[in-house]
Amino acid sequence: MKRVAILISGGGSNMVALADSMVGDHPGRPVLVLSNVAGAGGLAKAEDRGIETAVLAHRDFGDRREFERALSARLEKVAPDVICLAGFMRMLTPEFTDRWAGRILNIHPSLLPKYPGLNTHARALEAGDTHAGATVHLVTGDLDAGPILGQARVPVRADDTVETLAARVLIGEHALYPAVLARFVRGEVAPLSM
Ligand code: GRF
Repeated sequence: MKRVAILISGGGSNMVALADSMVGDHPGRPVLVLSNVAGAGGLAKAEDRGIETAVLAHRDFGDRREFERALSARLEKVAPDVICLAGFMRMLTPEFTDRWAGRILNIHPSLLPKYPGLNTHARALEAGDTHAGATVHLVTGDLDAGPILGQARVPVRADDTVETLAARVLIGEHALYPAVLARFVRGEVAPLSM
């Protein structure tokens, strides 16, 4: 069994999609859901599912480096084979990404390499894009720029707002992330398109 830790900052809908996919003959199991925000909605959802949870509030640490050292120490306790970032809103330094190299996945709400960073849906609407989507990629020291493992595309509608587009992309995320994780833990690496 591959041990999967999931890092969140918010509602955790992607975490739920991942956790609920790891059943039966799936080769992965969730071993920890960790949030950098106390009271993040996803924590209760993880507890409901009987998954070990932890809070590591970045504000309690002097700097990014100290926070990340504590994060690595907490992760080491559960010895994860894979670390899924699922709405985890902290940038990670190369010190952290090198420590866990090849094992960290992230989901980003754009069709990378378009729109790394924040406000992806507003930027897609502003550009007049006909399609938007989400990307799962391996995390390296460069923000939102690691090797792409899979993408889900959705149409942009003429009357879309940031909210309606975000909601449509999120549905795609919930299908994409578990599909990519399942392939990743089985050692299949060819990029997936959905
Ligand atoms: C998702 O859109 C994810 O791509 C982005 O933040 C959102 C998190 O949503 N990075 P949730 O916490 O998984 O519901």
